[in-house]
Amino acid sequence: MIKRVLMIGALMVYAGVLVATVSAANAAPQKKGAWVLPDNAKDEKNPLTMSDAVLVGGKKLYEAKCQRCHGKTGKGDGPDAELKNQADMDLTPAAGAAKNPDGVVFWKIWNGRETPKMPALKDDSTKEQVWAIVAYSQTLRKK
Ligand code: HEC
Repeated sequence: MIKRVLMIGALMVYAGVLVATVSAANAAPQKKGAWVLPDNAKDEKNPLTMSDAVLVGGKKLYEAKCQRCHGKTGKGDGPDAELKNQADMDLTPAAGAAKNPDGVVFWKIWNGRETPKMPALKDDSTKEQVWAIVAYSQTLRKK
């Protein structure tokens, strides 16, 4: 009898550990504050034909909507930038190019994010405007 109780007890502990392990694995290991993008975001191409007019338009929009945080030259040093986020807000390092193809930059600007806060433009801009911003903001990156 005692043996049976012990065995059932051991089984229950085992099952408990199993459940805990499985649920820990399922709780998406999302880095706190990381961008969560759909896989295909990077495949999206800028539909605009590049021209000076597109870049000039993109620059105007950047000055109106981005500069207060990302700064005039994109270094993340605008008046509304929070100091602790500045390194991640720097749009200029060449090393950032690989993780920020046009489609990804578009997605980030279109959808924004909660923490740290970046406003979503989908509520007050057209896709065409946002693609112009993408084109301009990619010129801020060092080659
Ligand atoms: C209220 C301030 C604010 C405004 C306005 C803002 N951003 Fe951001 N932006 C941020 C913050 C904060 C981050 C995230 C930094 C991080 O990853 O932790 C960010 C990140 C980004 C990134 C990703 C950088 C990377 O390497 O992952 C891009 C690209 C970007 N912003 C472009 C823009 C553009 C273009 C605009 C204008 C349409 C804009 N942002 C407007 C605050 C802002």
